[in-house]
Amino acid sequence: MLHGPQPGPVDDDALSAVYPWPDTTGKPYVRAMMVCTLDGAAAGDDGLSGSVSGGADRSVLRAVRRFADVVLVGGGTMKAEGYGPLKARPEDADVRRDAGQAPAPVLAVVSGSLDLPLDPGGFTDSDVTPIVFTTSSADPARVEDVRKRCEVVQLPGEKVDAEQVVQQLHRRGLGRIVCEGGPGLLHQVTESGLLDEADITIAPMLVGTDKTPSTPMVSDPSTMTLQHVLTAEEFLMLRYTRGTGTGTAEPSAPNPRDVTSAPGSDGDDQGAES
Ligand SMILES: NC(=O)c1ccc[n+]([C@@H]2O[C@H](COP(=O)([O-])OP(=O)(O)OC[C@H]3O[C@@H](n4cnc5c(N)ncnc54)[C@H](OP(=O)(O)O)[C@@H]3O)[C@@H](O)[C@H]2O)c1
Repeated sequence: MLHGPQPGPVDDDALSAVYPWPDTTGKPYVRAMMVCTLDGAAAGDDGLSGSVSGGADRSVLRAVRRFADVVLVGGGTMKAEGYGPLKARPEDADVRRDAGQAPAPVLAVVSGSLDLPLDPGGFTDSDVTPIVFTTSSADPARVEDVRKRCEVVQLPGEKVDAEQVVQQLHRRGLGRIVCEGGPGLLHQVTESGLLDEADITIAPMLVGTDKTPSTPMVSDPSTMTLQHVLTAEEFLMLRYTRGTGTGTAEPSAPNPRDVTSAPGSDGDDQGAES
């Protein structure tokens, strides 16, 4: 059970309410969802984020995904984590429909090689057809293969431009974007100035960083504003938004500084943090 900004347990609805999505009609909203250990690792010795995650962390992942339009991941994460299909949740159907959303978020994958797991039962069995962003120079045979089960968008350039990905998604009415990594794609999103929010879980362990890909320095580092801290199972679930101080374009949020603790939580979502 999570305890939230207001002292006391946090159920699924209350948890989603403290990760609000703004109106994205005029502008997309991109949030990062990542877990890292006390020594900065994004993966444990199995090379996966699940081994540094926990139930409370997965509850937050689920709360954010519930009303997202897009779950955005890099090809490396798709392969490493073996994403399963994104399915609609009947209990969220009315809210999503009233907001003009598809029944489930779209899984969007960024990949140059298109070396993706296309087997039945995997991400391609999502309720909404996944979108794969690749380059115009991608292997035509692979493009054809992926196109059998996904929509493929080919963009100019040697690698896929993160800004164009976000623009393309927004043009389709998909403005609520949660980027679940990995570090490589998240770096590009950050470098492009696209990141509006960072939802970062700190896991109570030190595992070493051998299995964590390094990323280049950000050319124009920025500071973010803490909106809340949730705690459960010795984990900290942090929510930061773009900019410093007040006056940011941040969706309505509760008191940011209340920190409470809770004995435990549960969660069942697959993905980068499971
Ligand atoms: N702690 C966490 O919350 C978390 C979250 C996610 C992942 N992870 C972990 O992070 C590791 C993976 O990290 P990563 O940085 O390698 O992941 P990544 O960013 O998901 O993947 C990098 C790969 O994705 C493709 N790609 C990414 N951006 C691209 C672009 N702009 N254009 C073309 N292709 C692009 C490329 O591979 P291809 O061209 O071959 O597709 C690239 O090598 C795994 O160990 C995973 O478990 C941890």
